[in-house]
Amino acid sequence: MPAGMEQAYLENGGTALLVDLRDGDAVIVHWGDALPAPLPDAALLLPAVPRSNFDVPIRPSLVPQASRGWRGAPGLSGARDDGSGYSPLLTVRSADATATRLDLELEDAVARLRVRIGLELDAHGILHASAELENASDAAYRLVGLELALPLPARAAEVLDHAGRWGREKQQQRHGIAHGEWVRAGRHGRTGHDATGLFAAGTAGFGFGRGEVWGIHLAWSGDHRHRVERLGDGQTVIAAGELLHPGEVVLGAGERYTAPELLAAHSTEGLDGVSARFHRMLRARPTHPRTPRPVVLNTWEAVYFRHDLDELSRLAETAAAVGVERFVLDDGWFRGRRDDHAGLGDWVVDADVWPQGLGPLIERVEALGMRFGLWVEPEMVNEDSDLVRAHPDWIAGPAGRRSLEWRHQQVLDLVNPDAFAHVLGQLDALLSENQGIAFLKWDQNRDQTELGSGGRASTHAQTLAAYRMLDELRRRHPDVEIESCSSGGARVDLGVLARTDRVWASDTNDALERQLIQRGTQALIPPELVGAHIGPAHSHTTGRTQDLSFRAITALVGHFGIEWDILRASDAERAELAQAIAYYRDRRELLHSGRLVHADDRGPSSTVYGVVADDRSEAVFVVAQLTLAPDEQTPPATLPGLDPARRYRVRFGLPLDERGVGERGAPAWIAAGGELELTGAALAVIGVPVPALLPEHALLLDVREVR
Ligand code: GLA
Repeated sequence: MPAGMEQAYLENGGTALLVDLRDGDAVIVHWGDALPAPLPDAALLLPAVPRSNFDVPIRPSLVPQASRGWRGAPGLSGARDDGSGYSPLLTVRSADATATRLDLELEDAVARLRVRIGLELDAHGILHASAELENASDAAYRLVGLELALPLPARAAEVLDHAGRWGREKQQQRHGIAHGEWVRAGRHGRTGHDATGLFAAGTAGFGFGRGEVWGIHLAWSGDHRHRVERLGDGQTVIAAGELLHPGEVVLGAGERYTAPELLAAHSTEGLDGVSARFHRMLRARPTHPRTPRPVVLNTWEAVYFRHDLDELSRLAETAAAVGVERFVLDDGWFRGRRDDHAGLGDWVVDADVWPQGLGPLIERVEALGMRFGLWVEPEMVNEDSDLVRAHPDWIAGPAGRRSLEWRHQQVLDLVNPDAFAHVLGQLDALLSENQGIAFLKWDQNRDQTELGSGGRASTHAQTLAAYRMLDELRRRHPDVEIESCSSGGARVDLGVLARTDRVWASDTNDALERQLIQRGTQALIPPELVGAHIGPAHSHTTGRTQDLSFRAITALVGHFGIEWDILRASDAERAELAQAIAYYRDRRELLHSGRLVHADDRGPSSTVYGVVADDRSEAVFVVAQLTLAPDEQTPPATLPGLDPARRYRVRFGLPLDERGVGERGAPAWIAAGGELELTGAALAVIGVPVPALLPEHALLLDVREVR
């Protein structure tokens, strides 16, 4: 380590890290707001030694270690076959720092283990933390886990994460941080319907716009955990890492394991402040979609497996007429796929259903001025497929038996290079032969809790193989956009989003469920990357019936689309649809670039949120009534995030749907013509009086600065 590097201070985007590097340890002393000069001397900040304790003060190292007195979960665990190496003592060997980045090499020379850590604060205040383990011995090392931990101060009092199930992903849950461990583990062989996305801790009572919040996310699509742990001495960490299966990662001489990247953000502006940092970071990526997000029509809930060129051509014509820009043919087009019992694995067009191939439909779609997209599920097979008939041993799982089926399907062992090459070849041919395919909806429709390849656990390797396949396909077909779908939202994470262009948040298009699913998903991922479709009036997943106005407004704050048989929609419905599409196309630049904000003053029965332009000159807000309001009079919709001093004009973005209003007299400004002028300050604290909405109805407020 260079002489004198006793501590490192990184600062960027208003966030800072102070890392104490004395005595060979690496301990984050501060993760939060930037600190003004002069910087504290970390040596003077050591805590006292409590009674009945180790004789030195104990703090959580970046890689917490039992050898340094950490009595919580260790950051590095594993051992060699003879049991040695079970308790590493890692010492910093080298440290390289710039103003925004710290690279550390730590070593246990006795256990012969090396850990390289990279901490980088980007311009958006996001901490990118990476870790890699190297086995520096000839003897193999069986890794149990490698995970970095970030400290939380005592004022972090509550944890908020997201849980869910199929059709109801990303539901907020929160509770106080107490002594002990709160772990959100995912063991699905994929990210999982219950995956948290954003995992956050904050000061007591923090909300969307208030309080101090520390949020993390592990960019990984395999098994994983996010956790908060408070020890008896009060030390608290927030951490995330990959969950490895027994024997899954055994490092031979000189071999390395790279942990998934941990991303972390801090804000004193509540949960929305943390989300804004993640959104800005994602938007700044060179791979972020730069073109306006096209209005989608996906055929799934319109026709399911009923593929018929004539009917689909008519659907395309109707879609184009209402303003659709991308037509996506879902499941059912490939060999033998008449229902969900057969066909997965055979990625060639079914000659019985599509005797002339997909060409005629693609040409029709293109002639109508739209682009064409196609559904695939490359990581899966049905037993009833030519692929499995030819290669029964290409199915992933334990040796000597089949795993349980899920939706009649199994996972293809992509760790097997022959299986990988076969599927990649089929997909490559599909895209090469059908140049009109501009978009793939890449699905992955099952949990696999015991993935295996060659007789050993393979969730880690299978996840990397899926990434490699996506990367290679993108390299060969750089103009094809890809969506990450997984039985709805079971693969929504920043690992897969590094190689895809949007996520499908959920299989439910029920707008009531969607309100909260999209809120939880967009806590991490900006609206333009989150697919949101208008489903049929009678929801296929929940059986609820909802007016089109509610379904349309719900889909507006996202990557907007339709998943509904609009051939059977009435003329009035098509006209209303066209109006919503026109509004989306007019406002998508704002919706997909501004800051997402939520009002903190609503109870669970309603929600107010919106997107405010970065220059705060305009905004779009949604007021949605989820269940019957507890009060007879609806509270005004307070609109956060605008410039307090500027004056704004508020109007309805889409006409108020009278079917959703349960009152006798409209608020005064509506009765007086439907325009209200207020300052940003008044909008934030007094708010806009709104009609008393019936449950499952919403209204849209269009806000523009008056100059
Ligand atoms: C999954 C997806 C759906 C649809 C079906 C097709 O369930 O999440 O959107 O594509 O597969 O089988």
